[in-house]
Amino acid sequence: MSSWRAMTAARNVAGMLEPRTNEDSVGERSSLSSSWFAALPKVELHCHIEGTMRPSTVAELSSTHGLPLPAASLDELFTYDDLTGFLTVFWFVQSVLRTPEDWERLAYESIVDGAVHGLRYREAFFTPARHLQDGQRLADIVAALDRGLDTAERETGVRCRLIFDIDRAFGPDLAVDHVRQLVDLRRSGAPGAERVIGLGMDSTERGIDPESFLPAYRLAHAAGLRRTAHQGENSPAAAIAAAVDVLGCERIDHGISIFGDPELVRRFADRRLPFTVCPNANVRINPDVVPGLGEHVYPAMREAGLLATLNTDDPALVGLDLTQEYELTAAAFGYDANDMVEISLDGIAASWLDDTEAAVLSQEVRAFARNASTGAPAPPER
Ligand code: HPA
Ligand code: ZN
Repeated sequence: MSSWRAMTAARNVAGMLEPRTNEDSVGERSSLSSSWFAALPKVELHCHIEGTMRPSTVAELSSTHGLPLPAASLDELFTYDDLTGFLTVFWFVQSVLRTPEDWERLAYESIVDGAVHGLRYREAFFTPARHLQDGQRLADIVAALDRGLDTAERETGVRCRLIFDIDRAFGPDLAVDHVRQLVDLRRSGAPGAERVIGLGMDSTERGIDPESFLPAYRLAHAAGLRRTAHQGENSPAAAIAAAVDVLGCERIDHGISIFGDPELVRRFADRRLPFTVCPNANVRINPDVVPGLGEHVYPAMREAGLLATLNTDDPALVGLDLTQEYELTAAAFGYDANDMVEISLDGIAASWLDDTEAAVLSQEVRAFARNASTGAPAPPER
């Protein structure tokens, strides 16, 4: 066992940030127990693998590679005013991934940490643009992620597939080059390449025309990759429409600006186009856009008939986990057990699992809903 695996096994989730509660903005508790939220089987479709890096691992790898933390403490580092500030920190966290062993460890810990929160299946983003620019090889990164995921899958039973995310900040030409490398890896049957099932796009939205990435999306589509994109986190509804109508995206990550175009809401509700929404991360990363959970459009999205799923985005960098995501969302919007089970089932419906895999997981969620105690107080005896 490698040294980090021995330490990881002993430490498990103990190296996480103190969880925050959003209590200032919510001030309510769900009547369901935390253990019910933790045990509810869940899928996650919007989670950046780099954003699951344990703070203890960030500290350790930054020290190993001689990269001083750009703040006095991790708590200070992981507090944000807006997406731009968050991305600076996200890029620092990415920069501590220097060797295949770092990537393998990240992948392993990510799934082990998710498993204790009822995670059953994840489609996780990885965004290797800066690593490739720095001379790392895509084949090495993908193979290392695959090794870490494989070990964690065998230990936990959780399954994980990967989505290659373009970092918009590096521009459309480099995106084409990187997608071509990915397609070549898949064609040559390189280790781990079949685990990468889709193309996405994250990072800066402001001032960037999503349509400029069409050549990269065309290449991915021709190679049989699924397509999604971060849009509408802080770009207008028109950018969401372009991602779907021009780039061919089958899902939208965030999409919270969609109410800027009521006709688009109707069109995507009719199509049941999935949105991977991250309410708690939006409050913690983009307080300039979403000052409190109570002001989030998540319930409005669901009421409008949009297939709005629930996700953590960058849990370890915002002091969040998947149990809290469900529990805080239920408390803020008055959702009961049936609502939360429906949200979990919607995650499966929005996933890129095949029909058989999706049916098996849906059965697991329904069986849980029938059999698990909600922890809610029993009605008084008469
Ligand atoms: N938005 C944009 N880029 C990102 C995010 C996000 O939520 N997380 C990591 N990179
Ligand atoms: Zn994201």
